[in-house]
Amino acid sequence: MNPNGQIAIVTGGGSGLGEATARALAAKGAGVAILDLGIERAAKIAADIGGIAIQCDVSSADGGAACVAEVAKKLGEPRILVNCAGIAIGMKTIGKDGPHPLDQYRKVIEVNLIGTFNMIRLVADRAAKA
Ligand SMILES: NC(=O)c1ccc[n+]([C@@H]2O[C@H](COP(=O)([O-])OP(=O)(O)OC[C@H]3O[C@@H](n4cnc5c(N)ncnc54)[C@H](O)[C@@H]3O)[C@@H](O)[C@H]2O)c1
Repeated sequence: MNPNGQIAIVTGGGSGLGEATARALAAKGAGVAILDLGIERAAKIAADIGGIAIQCDVSSADGGAACVAEVAKKLGEPRILVNCAGIAIGMKTIGKDGPHPLDQYRKVIEVNLIGTFNMIRLVADRAAKA
């Protein structure tokens, strides 16, 4: 894949794996949009690499769609999506305070699994129509 001249969305690009991916794609000539819940750090990295940052919750259907539309408006139609947004709750199935809280497990699934699929479907839809 040659990302030169392509528009890339990196979710979770404000930290860790996403930050490294955003920097690598920008270094290879892609226009990079960082979509992250944490806008301050995302904005600093975007400024560093000549991209844009948009505050986004990847698990939101409407919010995700609005963010992808904003990328298309500001940079052009996205052709690359890298899903790095995610959370990790390190907890035992049963601990000294009882079983793992189910709502926290649901939250991880909501962001890591549903959020990833949400962004895939939204970006694929735009790419198919472009
Ligand atoms: N780093 C590793 O070695 C490693 C290994 C295996 C799995 N993972 C998983 O990969 C994912 C990324 O890892 P990382 O080390 O880069 O984590 P990180 O915490 O450094 O970065 C995650 C980024 O995702 C953002 N984010 C969280 N929830 C979001 C949401 N709902 N919408 C948009 N952005 C959101 C955070 O603000 C943060 O900037 C995590 O789910 C992590 O558990 C990481």
